[in-house]
Amino acid sequence: MGIATSGPGRDEDRPDFELHHIYTLAASHGTGLGQRLLDTAIENRAAYLWILNGNPRAERFYRRNGFEPDGTDTLCGPTWHHRPMFRMHRQ
Ligand SMILES: CC(C)(COP(=O)(O)OP(=O)(O)OC[C@H]1O[C@@H](n2cnc3c(N)ncnc32)[C@H](O)[C@@H]1OP(=O)(O)O)[C@@H](O)C(=O)NCCC(=O)NCCS
Repeated sequence: MGIATSGPGRDEDRPDFELHHIYTLAASHGTGLGQRLLDTAIENRAAYLWILNGNPRAERFYRRNGFEPDGTDTLCGPTWHHRPMFRMHRQ
C-alpha cells in the first residue's frame, strides 16, 4: 500500500512539475510499488522534489529515476522539526 501526490511546482524558481509526496508501507519496499506510483504521479515529465537528508533508500530510488540534487537546500518547518532537506530534479 502507498500514496503519491504531484502537481504544478510550488517553488518560484522551479515552475515545472513537482512530486509532493511518495510513501509506501515498509512491507511494500522493494516490490516495485514505489516505481509504479512514481510512474503514475509524474509519468516521464521533468519534475522536482524535496527530500530529507539521510534517506538513502529514497535518494537511491530518485537517482535511479534520473533525479539529481540541484544544489538547493533548506530547513523544514516546525512540523518536521526544522530538519535539513534538499531539492532534486530531472530534466
Ligand atoms: C521512497 C520509496 C517510495 C521508494 O520505494 P522502493 O521500495 O525503494 O522502490 P520500489 O518499490 O520501486 O522497489 C525498488 C526495488 O525493488 C526491486 N523490484 C522488485 N520487483 C520490482 C518490480 N516489479 N518493479 C520495479 N522494481 C522491482 C528493484 O530492483 C529495486 O531494488 P533495490 O531497491 O534493491 O534497487 C519508499 O522507500 C518509501 O516509501 N520510503 C518511505 C517514505 C519516503 O522516504 N518517501 C520519500 C520522501 S522524499
